[in-house]
Amino acid sequence: MDLGLANKSVIVMAASKGLGKATAQQFAAEGARVVIASRNEAELKATIAEIQENTPTSQLFYKTCDVTKPADIKELVQFTAETNGTVDVLVNNAGGPPAGGFEKFEDDAWQKAFELNLLSYVRAIREVLPYMQQQQRGHIINFTSSSIKQTLDNLILSNTFRAGVVGLAKSLSQELAKDNILINTIGPGRIATDRVAELDQIRANSLGISYEEIRSNTEKSIPIGRYGKPEEFARQAVFLCSSANTYVTGQTLLVDGGLVKAL
Ligand SMILES: NC(=O)c1ccc[n+]([C@@H]2O[C@H](COP(=O)([O-])OP(=O)(O)OC[C@H]3O[C@@H](n4cnc5c(N)ncnc54)[C@H](OP(=O)(O)O)[C@@H]3O)[C@@H](O)[C@H]2O)c1
Repeated sequence: MDLGLANKSVIVMAASKGLGKATAQQFAAEGARVVIASRNEAELKATIAEIQENTPTSQLFYKTCDVTKPADIKELVQFTAETNGTVDVLVNNAGGPPAGGFEKFEDDAWQKAFELNLLSYVRAIREVLPYMQQQQRGHIINFTSSSIKQTLDNLILSNTFRAGVVGLAKSLSQELAKDNILINTIGPGRIATDRVAELDQIRANSLGISYEEIRSNTEKSIPIGRYGKPEEFARQAVFLCSSANTYVTGQTLLVDGGLVKAL
């Protein structure tokens, strides 16, 4: 299947590590012109070097961007439009909010999680829309979590704002279809990244057992029997944002090895 991504202009948010990085790599392998963004410039440069080593034909660029800062998002989108001529694909992603239950968080933590995991997506979409509307074509994908179908214990901030992203995407799918802009949501179950290792360590500490024990117990709860690889997640994101997807919009896809049993 031709994904039609050669020379397409792609922005991947929060892409120096983990799911964002794997997604940038897959887009680059398809011949897209990819701008990766996150806060740490040294990490971004190292990520570009690593992807270029694996895929020497990659067309990769970077811009530092803290997704909680509206001016950074504006500059990132302007930079992409200047570098690539337009924006064809936006991949919305961000770091995860802190773990914890209801009693742990005051207003300040709720506000920060809202800005990191929901408002940043709204702001990035607002910035890319003029380019997509002008060309009457575009793809947006929002990274969330399997918690959009089944909440995760001790992650109340994530559970709350990821659900908001689903509502946002469904509403926008209705508003943007007339401009041929497709928007979907993708939720990782347990994909082996630094974030997941960090959460596993927190759980191991709180239960007084080893990290290895937590991981092995969690793997047993996944029908496929293991954590996902970042590239297994990335391939689905890339397909939904490719020219091969002309009719799927407003949908939510879990990449979770069968973990979530909800219909
Ligand atoms: N991996 C999974 O299985 C899984 C499951 C459920 C949900 N998720 C969610 O999916 C998202 C990505 O997860 P991951 O596993 O790829 O995490 P990760 O490996 O920790 O990577 C996070 C990335 O986000 C960037 N980042 C963090 N805060 C940022 C900010 N304010 N502005 C811009 N970039 C920022 C980091 O770079 P800098 O530090 O340089 O900014 C890094 O590149 C997270 O929200 C996570 O909670 C992941």
